[in-house]
Amino acid sequence: MSKLLLEQEFPQDPDIIYLNHAAVAPWPKRTAEAVQNFATENLHRGAADYPSWLKTEQALRGKLAQLIGAKSTRNIALQKNTSEGLSAIAYGLDWQPGDKIVITDQEFPSNRIVWESLRAKGVEVIEASLDGEDPEQNIVAALDDSVRLLSVSSVQYGTGLVLDLEPLGQACGERDILFCVDAIQSIGALPFDVTECQADFVVADGHKWMLGPEGLALFYVSDRAMDRLTLNQYGWHMVKERGNYDLKSWEIADDAKRFECGSPNMIGAYALNASLGLLLEYGLDQVQQDLMGKVKTLEEALLSRGDIELITRTDRSARSGIITFRQRDIAPQTLFEHLKNQGVVCACRGGGIRFSPHFYTPDSALISAVEKV
Ligand SMILES: Cc1ncc(COP(=O)(O)O)c(C=O)c1O
Repeated sequence: MSKLLLEQEFPQDPDIIYLNHAAVAPWPKRTAEAVQNFATENLHRGAADYPSWLKTEQALRGKLAQLIGAKSTRNIALQKNTSEGLSAIAYGLDWQPGDKIVITDQEFPSNRIVWESLRAKGVEVIEASLDGEDPEQNIVAALDDSVRLLSVSSVQYGTGLVLDLEPLGQACGERDILFCVDAIQSIGALPFDVTECQADFVVADGHKWMLGPEGLALFYVSDRAMDRLTLNQYGWHMVKERGNYDLKSWEIADDAKRFECGSPNMIGAYALNASLGLLLEYGLDQVQQDLMGKVKTLEEALLSRGDIELITRTDRSARSGIITFRQRDIAPQTLFEHLKNQGVVCACRGGGIRFSPHFYTPDSALISAVEKV
């Protein structure tokens, strides 16, 4: 895709510099158009062409499967958000008092509160520290005989730390521990291979690196984990013979659609399908390569100033789209307000200022943002 076409996809307001993809991303032009066209179709024809809507929804499932290297869409369900997916897992598993869940000490609240809510059932939540030389080893060391589930973010939302998921999946497999990955901070930015990392569950909302709208999330469930989850939501849509409304008997769907109790978020499906279409057309490897270039540019520009300390670790081989830093003389919240007033859209996270560009962010915008710090 040429630079010009890419610029056309992101005709952003020149008064702002958007470095907040780790929060909520802007939509590409094609996504805005998909939503506008869907609205026009609804206006004039209602759901007269519903079968074609279902084709778009199925295409979205295919793209989501492709994004995580899943072999089949049978393992993919659509959920409202990451928290809903995590809750389906938490309240689908059969817990015994004394069971443990391991998370890390840097998790976004969704991947902590959901598990902590199980304390009422006698479940203990252990936070493995991500400090030190080998964060993955810290996590593996916490996997004792009482641990039933490990749930980690593939990329930590505050610091951008990337976890190497393969040794974690391997360690879980060896101990018959279920492995859950909150991948919202990596899918759409970094490659993800569900087979290689042996995850049982992968959950990720679409409104960050996938450039989609809020309210529509990927929920992957492995074959081995599918029947271990009891359902807590029921309706016409999660059954085998969906659409046979006269049938009085029913069975739970064989595939992950069993986690979708009723009518889908169709407008969201149109939007996310368009956004993922752009990412796949550009190429996921190219997206990652370009994004790493953007983060490097930011890092070099920040460090060249002399008054910046990076919070994001630079000693790890894998990097994410997040770079978090502190200005030595200004409190993060004050700096955040200052940047906001200058049109830099970013976040105050992880003890500092979090910049999160995406693959298309112009280098000139990165340099200009650093000048405004
Ligand atoms: C790691 C992580 N998980 C989850 C979420 C959001 O969860 P949800 O999709 O439920 O809004 C965020 C948002 O910042 C996040 O960074």
